[in-house]
Amino acid sequence: MAGEMSMLGSVILALFLAGYLGQQYLPPPKPRVIGLDLGTTFCSVGVFHPGSGEVEVIGDEEGRKSIPSAVSFNATAVLAGHEAVDLADTNPQNTIYDAKRFIGKIFEPEVLEQESARYPFKVSNNNGSAEFVITTNYTFSVSPEFIGSRLLLKMKKMAEGQLGVPIQKAVISVPAEFDERQRNYTVRAANLAGLEILRVINEPTAAAMAYGLHKVDVFNVLVVDLGGGTLDVSLLNKQGGMFLTRAMAGNNKLGGQDFSQRLLQYTTERIRQEFGAAPDLKEDIHRLRQAVEAAKLNLTLHPTATIQVPLHLHMRDSPKAPEGPAPSPVLFQVLITRKLFEELNEDLFQKILTPVKTVLTEGHLEKEDVDEIVLVGGSTRIPRIRRLISEYFGKDANTSVDPDLAVVTGVAIQAGIMGGSWPLQVSAIEIPNRHLLKTNFS
Ligand SMILES: *[C@@H]1O[C@H](CO)[C@@H](O)[C@H](O)[C@H]1NC(C)=O
Ligand SMILES: *[C@@H]1O[C@H](CO)[C@@H](O)[C@H](O)[C@H]1NC(C)=O
Ligand SMILES: *[C@@H]1O[C@H](CO)[C@@H](O)[C@H](O)[C@H]1NC(C)=O
Ligand SMILES: *[C@@H]1O[C@H](CO)[C@@H](O)[C@H](O)[C@H]1NC(C)=O
Ligand SMILES: *[C@@H]1O[C@H](CO)[C@@H](O)[C@H](O)[C@H]1NC(C)=O
Ligand SMILES: *[C@@H]1O[C@H](CO)[C@@H](O)[C@H](O)[C@H]1NC(C)=O
Repeated sequence: MAGEMSMLGSVILALFLAGYLGQQYLPPPKPRVIGLDLGTTFCSVGVFHPGSGEVEVIGDEEGRKSIPSAVSFNATAVLAGHEAVDLADTNPQNTIYDAKRFIGKIFEPEVLEQESARYPFKVSNNNGSAEFVITTNYTFSVSPEFIGSRLLLKMKKMAEGQLGVPIQKAVISVPAEFDERQRNYTVRAANLAGLEILRVINEPTAAAMAYGLHKVDVFNVLVVDLGGGTLDVSLLNKQGGMFLTRAMAGNNKLGGQDFSQRLLQYTTERIRQEFGAAPDLKEDIHRLRQAVEAAKLNLTLHPTATIQVPLHLHMRDSPKAPEGPAPSPVLFQVLITRKLFEELNEDLFQKILTPVKTVLTEGHLEKEDVDEIVLVGGSTRIPRIRRLISEYFGKDANTSVDPDLAVVTGVAIQAGIMGGSWPLQVSAIEIPNRHLLKTNFS
């Protein structure tokens, strides 16, 4: 009897030990909360892996980590991301992009009409809210939050595919200037995609978290977000584990596309000088734009880039006959130096400092009081822009995280905190700032 008891005891002890040891070697639990960056032009999804302590930004079927914020409708399908963009050429009036600019906002009827005129799709007015009119087999309207939900659903599926577990919970980022209604409608978009939102965090805060600034001893953080078309500057103030937005300013008419435009103007002028005519065929203009864009990106890494495109020009001497067959192509080629690109854009680059100075004035801070500077958005890769900012502050900005993925990286860290991956970690709670100011220059 006593022997049996002690054997039972050993078995229990062995089981207990096995369980204990097993736990040490068990793979870490899969993340259950995802981080979502629903951007105006691109969106991304990320997760925090507690085992490695790293953020993984999840790619689509082809491994692309940013998906275009576009949704396209045809008679049989609703497509989101790259698939929607692929359809945009043949189906422009049913391919919706920029929906984030409309989500949760109430517009004056005239403003909405002006907005609608900018797009190839129809924006209608539903008692002050925007709706997109889709015509496939029949005509119907969809809301901006429905568009958002299709993008979020796509990202939810990307995450589920990668992690192999169902996902129902998420943290999502929004622009710091979003009001309560815009935040609510963003949450509604997530709910439509079957996601419960555990927290909404501001994009600049997320970017600061991507650099671990919620963990280190800093007080004032300046976040410069320069995207394709807009510049947003935020001054954050950290108190304990909380980030407060002390001031915001921006320029909603300054971004990467303006820098490309300057290079395009220069290149077109060179073509005119060399051949006595500017490209007027739609395909030529499109090809030239693409070559200019590629050259701009290359100049970030290389001191020179070559623009080389075949063009079908209606030469000075030949009569202009757009109805006739296209003239035979000529090869246009020009070498662009980084120095030239910088000269063409110097006045635009200088404009970046205006909202930077505004937030310092409004936040009652000297530039020496800024502890860390965080750069977000693809255009902050431009070396001249980095230099301009570091010269102004007399120190380097934080740039080690991919500026296109800084926001999603921070949101994923917040998702990790919410998911309990870091039980002892103080999370970055945001206190809404009642004295918040937003200034826009143009
Ligand atoms: C809708 O788009 C999908 C994906 O491109 C395609 O397979 C399908 O045939 C399209 N449907 C129609 C009616 O064009
Ligand atoms: C339209 O909006 C106003 C205020 O935003 C609201 O009072 C009114 O009930 C709305 N009308 C309809 C038909 O939804
Ligand atoms: C739309 O029309 C096409 C033919 O024009 C038809 O094949 C398809 O079934 C229709 N789709 C719906 C959803 O009614
Ligand atoms: C936002 O949602 C909250 C909670 O659902 C609600 O209490 C609040 O009134 C909403 N605010 C606006 C402006 O829609
Ligand atoms: C950009 O760089 C790539 C690789 O270095 C090169 O293949 C491409 O031709 C370059 N494009 C331009 C416009 O300079
Ligand atoms: C960037 O952020 C980290 C905090 O994570 C800090 O230690 C570092 O010095 C910062 N600055 C630069 C220029 O990298």
